[in-house]
Parts: sequence; C-alpha cells; structure tokens
Amino acid sequence: MKFALALVTLLPLFVKGADIPVAVGQTGLTFEPSSVTAAEGDVIVFSFYPKNHTVTQSSFAAPCTKLVDDDGPDDDDDDAVADSGFVPVTDASTPTVWNYTVTSDDPTWFYCAQASPVNHCTGGMVFAINPSAERTFEAFQQNARNGGTGSSSTTGTGTASPTNTSPGSSTTSSQATNTAAAGGNGNGAVSVAASGGAASLLAIAGAVAAFAL
Ligand SMILES: *[C@@H]1O[C@H](CO)[C@@H](O)[C@H](O)[C@H]1NC(C)=O
Ligand SMILES: *[C@@H]1O[C@H](CO)[C@@H](O)[C@H](O)[C@H]1NC(C)=O
Repeated sequence: MKFALALVTLLPLFVKGADIPVAVGQTGLTFEPSSVTAAEGDVIVFSFYPKNHTVTQSSFAAPCTKLVDDDGPDDDDDDAVADSGFVPVTDASTPTVWNYTVTSDDPTWFYCAQASPVNHCTGGMVFAINPSAERTFEAFQQNARNGGTGSSSTTGTGTASPTNTSPGSSTTSSQATNTAAAGGNGNGAVSVAASGGAASLLAIAGAVAAFAL
C-alpha cells in the first residue's frame, strides 16, 4: 500500500515502467506466468518460492546455457547478462524478491540453472520476455526439454542433429539448432561449471523426477 501511494506521488515527476510480477517455483518447476510482454524500463518482479532456483539469462538456441557477454574478450563487465544467482528459500509465505529491469523490446530468454537434485531447465523451467511469432515460448521450452544446450555457445562437443522433428516445435528458424542428440544432458559447459558435476546422471532422471518436486 505504501508503495502504491509512493508511486502515485511520484508519477507526475517521471515516467516509471510497469511492475510485472512473476512467481518462481511456486507450483513446481515453473515460472508463472512463463512468458510476458514488457517494454523497456518495466520491472519484472520475480518472487522466489522454495526450494532453490535462479533466473539466469540464456538464448533461444541454447535455453539451458548462461548467455555469454559478447562485448569482447577484454570486457569484464558481465552484468549485461542477467543472473539472480541461486536463491534458496525455505518458507513459502515469505518469498524472496529479485528484480530485473527490462532493457530492450527484443525477445529475452531465461532459465533456472538449478541442476541438483534434478535439472530444472530440461524439466521445462524457462521464461521469456517478448517472445516473437518466429521464436515462440513453446519452441524455446521444447528446446530446453530436448536438452537445452544448443550448439552455438558451447565449444567442442556435439553439434549434431541440426533439425528438430519433435511435434509442437514448428518453424523455429535456422538458429534453433537443437542438440537432441545430447541425450537429456541439459548442461552446457557453463552450467556444469556453475553447478558442479554429477549433473549428467541427475539430468536423465530430471524429466521424470521433476514432477515430484
Ligand atoms: C542452492 O543450489 C546451489 C546449486 O545446486 C547449491 O550450490 C547451494 O548450496 C544451494 N543452497 C542451499 C541453501 O541449499
Ligand atoms: C523490486 O521492485 C518492487 C516493485 O517495484 C519494489 O517494491 C521492491 O522494493 C524491489 N525489490 C528489490 C529487492 O529491489
């Protein structure tokens, strides 16, 4: 209430973006809503519920791999890539809030980087801001469920199977190169490093066990 009053008071002074609430992990491996339309300056107010999730920026082609800041090798400003880090929460009545200010009208993609005890991203725990007609939320989530590593931002292994023939993923453009051949291991090099090993076996169990969380 205080906030609402403050907002009304400040409105004449400057234009503030809208607040868009999103619940993280309130109903299992979900962002709710899983996709929003937002304008530059809007604030996505993420409320983290138990157990221990992240909101981490990725890409359409590699839904389960943290986006790499592409400002060049000497650039050590990595805050252009949004990442809440792990937010452990024990009490559902007091979710932890983390805000993300929308920086463009372009499609922007996110996932939960938790891989223990199951892989949340390959379990479908992904989120999109401003998905487009060509790059739909549904295709993005299907990429995640198919393994989620893509091929563009990982080096070395597995750039196989350029086509995705699973139902429901329709036309996802040439960028939707999809490593279904990765066989359910949803971790790119980055997320393996971040979550520390043992993820492969767990990821295989993930899709099934996700329902238990
Ligand atoms: C949250 O998850 C991360 C990654 O699995 C882990 O390193 C961290 O210890 C967890 N935090 C808590 C409090 O369980
Ligand atoms: C997040 O945004 C909401 C709404 O604008 C605000 O009330 C809250 O203080 C912000 N929280 C943090 C941690 O910045």
